[in-house]
Amino acid sequence: LTSSSNLNKGIKQMYMALPQGEKVQAMYVWIDGTGERLRCKTHTLDCEPKCVEELREWNFDGSSTFQSEGSSSDTYLLPVAMFCDPFHKDPNKLVFCEVFKYNRKPAETNLRHTCKWIMDMFGMDQEYTLMGTDGQPFGWPSNGFPGTQSPYYCGVGADKAYGRDIVEAHYRACLYAGVKITGTNAEVMPAQWEFQIGPCEGILMGDHLLVACFILHRVCEDFGVIATFDPKPIPGNWNGTSCHTNFSTKENGLKYIEEAIEKLSKQHQYHIRAYDPKGGLDNTSNINDFSAGVANCSASIRIPRSVGQEKRGYFEDRCPSANCDPFAVTEAIIRTCLLNKTGDEPFQYKN
Ligand SMILES: *[C@@H]1O[C@H](CO)[C@@H](O)[C@H](O)[C@H]1NC(C)=O
Ligand SMILES: *[C@@H]1O[C@H](CO)[C@@H](O)[C@H](O)[C@H]1NC(C)=O
Ligand SMILES: *[C@@H]1O[C@H](CO)[C@@H](O)[C@H](O)[C@H]1NC(C)=O
Ligand SMILES: *[C@@H]1O[C@H](CO)[C@@H](O)[C@H](O)[C@H]1NC(C)=O
Ligand SMILES: *[C@@H]1O[C@H](CO)[C@@H](O)[C@H](O)[C@H]1NC(C)=O
Repeated sequence: LTSSSNLNKGIKQMYMALPQGEKVQAMYVWIDGTGERLRCKTHTLDCEPKCVEELREWNFDGSSTFQSEGSSSDTYLLPVAMFCDPFHKDPNKLVFCEVFKYNRKPAETNLRHTCKWIMDMFGMDQEYTLMGTDGQPFGWPSNGFPGTQSPYYCGVGADKAYGRDIVEAHYRACLYAGVKITGTNAEVMPAQWEFQIGPCEGILMGDHLLVACFILHRVCEDFGVIATFDPKPIPGNWNGTSCHTNFSTKENGLKYIEEAIEKLSKQHQYHIRAYDPKGGLDNTSNINDFSAGVANCSASIRIPRSVGQEKRGYFEDRCPSANCDPFAVTEAIIRTCLLNKTGDEPFQYKN
């Protein structure tokens, strides 16, 4: 871990209070060649952009991010979604970008590119675990374990909620940025948390989720802790970490939900590949065998009780792992449920 977390943040404030004039800082954020890590870099704009279309294309050295082939390392960043920058505040911007290779083809880990056709509504519940500098989950004793799991979910108190300062800072920063964050709560394992993003129409799901993840990493950097999306951060009888995904179509009657579930049941292995590119998933029943049920948390697909009663609404796919790529997840759901496609493995990362 770098020692920058030990720097005096008060001194930085002195510089950050200097006026920046008309100029605007735009921090471009993208997914690197691992398909999982986010990278960023900043440049100066002459004036505040009104919309993402006003932002220029940029480039970087793809050989340092596992994103270039051979000797052509120029790799292009195409701005696709713009947010207020919660770290530098107005008028500065965070800009989420798609990545294109030297030959203008989308990078292997640019799953947004094939995902961005007309899509329906999604919501994603992103779980994560805060890790301390000692490699243990944040707040855990260095040589042991905290008490067993029951009191931590939605818990309150110094011995129940591990790292709430970070969660609160992340929540506020997301609201400031304009990220569609709808809530947050402590999860079952101590130091495990969740935030919810949505409802988002189609392609915006991945943009908002990934920018929320970027902001989380950036906030954690300030606090000197690490956020991990590892699906199983602690082996044994500690809960894994997932990214449950809600989905509804414009035709949202129970009949359509049941049709979608029938299609999903036939494509389960394809979905698992799309949801868990690293094969690190917890071996729970909802992963290995497809199942669906009303208000059943052990099933792969859960139909919320209210939806079962009202006979319309959304369903929840409980299989995506916490380190999924949201573009792969939403695309797979659309392919299977709306386009009636059978899986043809477009989600293989290169490394
Ligand atoms: C997804 O659905 C679950 C179960 O109904 C709900 O608890 C959660 O808040 C929803 N998340 C989003 C982001 O809509
Ligand atoms: C995860 O937490 C729930 C609720 O406490 C529990 O029922 C379940 O068994 C846990 N799973 C694992 C793998 O520990
Ligand atoms: C999950 O199950 C598969 C097949 O039974 C096994 O090969 C794999 O090692 C298991 N993974 C974990 C993380 O337990
Ligand atoms: C919930 O789903 C699991 C996994 O398919 C199944 O074993 C269990 O019987 C279901 N529970 C209910 C109440 O239907
Ligand atoms: C997919 O199948 C449904 C029936 O399940 C049908 O109504 C729909 O038109 C099909 N969509 C496409 C794009 O073929």
